[in-house]
Amino acid sequence: MSIDQIEKPTTLEDVEEAKVFLQSKLGEMIPTLGLILGTGLGKVTEQIENKITIPYEEIPHFSSSTVISHTGQLVFGQLSGKTIMAMEGRYHFYEGHSLKQITFPVRVMKALGIDIMIVSNAAGGLNSQYQKGDIVLIEDHINFMGLNPLIGPNHEKLGPRFPDMIEPYQKELMRLSEDVATEQGLNLHKGVYVGVTGPCLETRAEYRMMRTWGADMVGMSTIPEVIVAVHAGLKVLGLSVITDMCIPESLEPINIEEIIKTAQSAGPKLDKLIKGVLNRL
Ligand code: HPA
Repeated sequence: MSIDQIEKPTTLEDVEEAKVFLQSKLGEMIPTLGLILGTGLGKVTEQIENKITIPYEEIPHFSSSTVISHTGQLVFGQLSGKTIMAMEGRYHFYEGHSLKQITFPVRVMKALGIDIMIVSNAAGGLNSQYQKGDIVLIEDHINFMGLNPLIGPNHEKLGPRFPDMIEPYQKELMRLSEDVATEQGLNLHKGVYVGVTGPCLETRAEYRMMRTWGADMVGMSTIPEVIVAVHAGLKVLGLSVITDMCIPESLEPINIEEIIKTAQSAGPKLDKLIKGVLNRL
């Protein structure tokens, strides 16, 4: 079986069709920044001005989102003086979306002229210095999903066959975020994110292994979108909210409701940081 039968490749025509559709809804509005909001972290869209909201189902080639707490819509408009495209609700691999579907909106961001992508997520803390509710700047990642969204035919117009991963999270954006955090009196950590497929949480043995790898937090998203963003030449800023601690020696049972609650209560801190960064761009 060829890979095309496993996953339908992203075509330039599909990206173009979604772009033209969105442009027809946007009129004069031209977004320059993309924002992908993680589980429980979608509230910042309430602060977007001159909003244009478009449900995923209406957009050509977008899958519809199913996971709880994710509404599944694009919200365009102004936030801290920038015209943005926010994804309220992201796609997860564990829902059954392919990595091509998950990352399709990133292709569309690029086609619309966006050059910076900010991505947030809820993550489990592997670093014992972290606490629930802390915010971590993603400085690097480990792809442990066992798949890569770039597998299959490569379109040179979308990006190179072998993109390097020397700086997936842009250093300049990281420095800027650290400056903003200092100004806001926010304790911002810096760490390595390991991405898994889920949906089950990890075993103690897996957490132990991930810690030896140098991972500081673990989650079920972000990596596919970041790989495609790098392929497309977007500058990326990644932020995790620690929603639960994954220390093997003191592991406690966790459920998704608790993860969402912790993400929601850390949300305002994260929103303030993101708005502070937007102000300085
Ligand atoms: N694993 C453990 N804890 C988490 C995760 C995960 O993938 N996401 C959020 N909290």
